[in-house]
Amino acid sequence: MTDLILGQTLSFSADPFVEGPSAAHHRRRGGVVVQDGRIAGLGEAEALRAAHPDARVTDYGDALISAGFVDAHAHYPQTGIIASWGKRLIDWLNSYTFPEEMRFGDPAYAGEIAGRYLDLLLAHGTTSVASYCTIHPGSAEALFQAAEARGMRILAGKTCMDRNAPDGLRDNAQSAYDDSKALLARWHGRGRASYVITPRFAPTSTPEQLSALGALWAEHPDCLMQTHLSEQPDEIAWVKTLFPTAQDYLDVYEAHGLLGPGGVYGHAIHLEPRERARLAETGAALVHCPTSNTFIGSGLFDMAGLVAEGQRVGLATDTGGGSSFSMLRTMAAAYEIGQLRHTPLHAAQLWWLATQGSARALRIDDRVGNLALGMEADLVVIDLASTPAIAQRAARAEEFWEALFPTIMMGDDRAIRATWVGGQRVTGV
Ligand code: GUN
Ligand code: ZN
Repeated sequence: MTDLILGQTLSFSADPFVEGPSAAHHRRRGGVVVQDGRIAGLGEAEALRAAHPDARVTDYGDALISAGFVDAHAHYPQTGIIASWGKRLIDWLNSYTFPEEMRFGDPAYAGEIAGRYLDLLLAHGTTSVASYCTIHPGSAEALFQAAEARGMRILAGKTCMDRNAPDGLRDNAQSAYDDSKALLARWHGRGRASYVITPRFAPTSTPEQLSALGALWAEHPDCLMQTHLSEQPDEIAWVKTLFPTAQDYLDVYEAHGLLGPGGVYGHAIHLEPRERARLAETGAALVHCPTSNTFIGSGLFDMAGLVAEGQRVGLATDTGGGSSFSMLRTMAAAYEIGQLRHTPLHAAQLWWLATQGSARALRIDDRVGNLALGMEADLVVIDLASTPAIAQRAARAEEFWEALFPTIMMGDDRAIRATWVGGQRVTGV
């Protein structure tokens, strides 16, 4: 079966942080040919119709077809406590997050939230995510199974913590290694799944646990390793007291074998010059989580400065420290943080970050994150007039970016006309 999906289209031939908005390609009346779950053709709608007379046609009219969104850092177990009031990072973890994560010892609860979470993602146009789980191996099992059932490309790992977390929410160095290794053997490379080695962050792991996970990563260098880095000043001060001989926060990870090109570091707001230089040299990825950084009061990520240094940067919700499941809302928050730093991001840069940039941060940009021949057909179809407020603003637009920007700033799941995963429509019409 060949599908021909018609509408406006948006794709990228380069990085708009390097090339500017001309790195993006918009067709007013374009199309995507999908065969066997992959993109088999791109072009003008009428030419594609003529070339594929037998294809099943889905015509989205004025709606915009893009690669599905890629969320480069999230915590699916925090779905139920998103938007919890009034705390900063360490208090927020202790008051809201850890009690909720405790519940994932029950595989039935983990399965229920994993399904709910992935359905919320698809309703928001997100087709791939890199998610933390909880310390319970069953929490990772539940997410991998739920993603497999939906055909989604998923990256996830059991979160490891063996100190500074409550009873019932700690593993140990050996069990973290053993359980991670068993999950990796079962899921890494199975279908569309990738295992990610996941020490939560330096304060909740002993040096022995960090070393054990560093050793596991050395055995499986094709895996990603995800953790948190320099999110809040209190956290950084705590890391200094816990690891007094480390040069800085990043050095804690490096000293335990947890710095490398497949490292994915969430937040990375308050970095020292040495850390920035080391990250750039390594080719590791930094993930900007803007709704989380304003919601938990963490600070303003230096997108312009980091990108100018050549850092590999992705974009993410950080659900449920982040206050939204929507990558549209996340782009809006990234724009606002850029404004507060006097470096506003162009709509092309925001869209690239939410698709190809995040895919590049997760090293899956050869498979998803762009409309290009041979890519997996994970698509989102966006209604550019999804509410009266957006419609009246978009109606005045004189060019494409001006028509898209109101949806970036004011859009949510109502803007998602349909989501396609692996060439199948999974939400919308
Ligand atoms: N640092 C360590 N764990 C977490 C978490 O769950 N959320 C956020 N935002 N930061 C963290
Ligand atoms: Zn996080």
